[in-house]
Amino acid sequence: MSASDPSPNSQDAPKGELALRTLAMPADTNPSGDIFGGWVMAQMDIAGGISAWNRADGRVATVAVDGFTFHRPIYVGDVVCCYTDIVHVGKTSIQVLVSAWVLRGRRPENRIKVTEGTFSFVAIDTEGKKRDVPPLDNL
Ligand SMILES: CC(C)(COP(=O)(O)OP(=O)(O)OC[C@H]1O[C@@H](n2cnc3c(N)ncnc32)[C@H](O)[C@@H]1OP(=O)(O)O)[C@@H](O)C(=O)NCCC(=O)NCCS
Repeated sequence: MSASDPSPNSQDAPKGELALRTLAMPADTNPSGDIFGGWVMAQMDIAGGISAWNRADGRVATVAVDGFTFHRPIYVGDVVCCYTDIVHVGKTSIQVLVSAWVLRGRRPENRIKVTEGTFSFVAIDTEGKKRDVPPLDNL
């Protein structure tokens, strides 16, 4: 598949809110010139953390990442969009499904899901100790 080809799933709609949008730059590549997976994971952690922070009404820490799959490569020049969908809220934890999509060639019709994973966050206090996630009606 060439860099400009839309993927078969390019018609799927992302779920959740657009929490982060950025541009894949040459500085984000590995020595072979491909976008580094760790950079993508960091963007998704930031996106999930923004949503979890909002839901927890304060500081959160990433405690686990599950089901992480890289479906497609990301290329320099792709616009990377991270969508977040809160799938579970526990006593102190929040699970966020984060999916990363790219706009290849910056064209909206070339929207491709590249990776996804479930990030678990724990609400913490100023000392880094876990605290209860507040009820929604308290926010
Ligand atoms: C976050 C932290 C304070 C939690 O403290 P803890 O006493 O170990 O917490 P617990 O084991 O009681 O778990 C707290 C919650 O996290 C959930 N949790 C723990 N491990 C989990 C995992 N692997 N996957 C999903 N959820 C998990 C628990 O189910 C619990 O949820 P609930 O209260 O909603 O039922 C502590 O683990 C910590 O400081 N970890 C480091 C976090 C960090 O530095 N992250 C950045 C890494 S660079």
